[in-house]
Amino acid sequence: LNIGVGRAHGKAILFGEHAVVYGAPAIAFPVHVLPVLANATLTMGETVLNSELYRGPVALAPTSLSPIIAAIDAALDFVAPGMGAHVTIYSDIPYARGLGSSAAVASAVITAVAQAAGVRLDKEQIFRLTQTAERVAHGRPSGMDAHAVQANGVIKFVLPRVECVYVGERVHMVIADTGVPGATRKAVMGVRNRREKDSTRVDAMIKELGSFSNVAVDQLGMGDLEAMGANMWRAHEMLCDLGVSCPELNHLVGVARSCGALGAKLTGGGVGGCIIALATSRKEAEFMAQELKKSGARNAWPTWVDPSRRLR
Ligand code: MEV
Repeated sequence: LNIGVGRAHGKAILFGEHAVVYGAPAIAFPVHVLPVLANATLTMGETVLNSELYRGPVALAPTSLSPIIAAIDAALDFVAPGMGAHVTIYSDIPYARGLGSSAAVASAVITAVAQAAGVRLDKEQIFRLTQTAERVAHGRPSGMDAHAVQANGVIKFVLPRVECVYVGERVHMVIADTGVPGATRKAVMGVRNRREKDSTRVDAMIKELGSFSNVAVDQLGMGDLEAMGANMWRAHEMLCDLGVSCPELNHLVGVARSCGALGAKLTGGGVGGCIIALATSRKEAEFMAQELKKSGARNAWPTWVDPSRRLR
């Protein structure tokens, strides 16, 4: 019996969520403190899922799991058509909080199923199959999440291209969860409606949100975190104007400000979900995480981005 193993991790978007859907650049980083692990074996019978959310044959699974099932089916069709699989998932990423849970689970499951069939997929194949599941999860995903949940370091994404970003020194962050489930599909539709009504204004905002991503590449390289933080506050205001924030997100951004964050903003689809806050040190990140939890965050994780080598 061949046991396949797949791994992925959560992701957070530093700049450019929503704008990325319209071709603007976005920056995302891996959240290694939120891992996903999947195991799979192939069977001749029906596919069975074993996860915290559901245990049993996929035919009886709740519809909320259809993106995961789409991932398993896409992988099986690709590597072992006609077969079923027993798939076990362990995920530390809270579901529907803008941290890439759906893409990370899909990506880990796809890798595990392929490995169980004796196939080693390359990054591009994993990406393409993950996008199949992401389409089921939220319509027309840009592809940012599917890349970020496999990335080792910070990435810049401009539809449809992804590249690695040079980071000069370790950057400390906190991710804090409002506890309110986000609704990426709804949020993306909301922005689309706003753009249809007032394209001049919304396009200008999309452009400015994208420009924060471009300058963040230099800021991460040079360690100019104060300037980057200032743009995070500004990006949050603009995302509010785009209608993708909510009172709970605004509250946590305010708490981050009052405990000394260099910058903070909502991250991911919004309308619930999480904020990210930029800290000056590990100690500050830990302090901020405690304060955010005391002030209503469901959970808060200090995390960081490691320096990377210059590629060019
Ligand atoms: C979701 O994590 C990011 C969005 O920009 C949607 C997408 O890129 O597909 C809101």
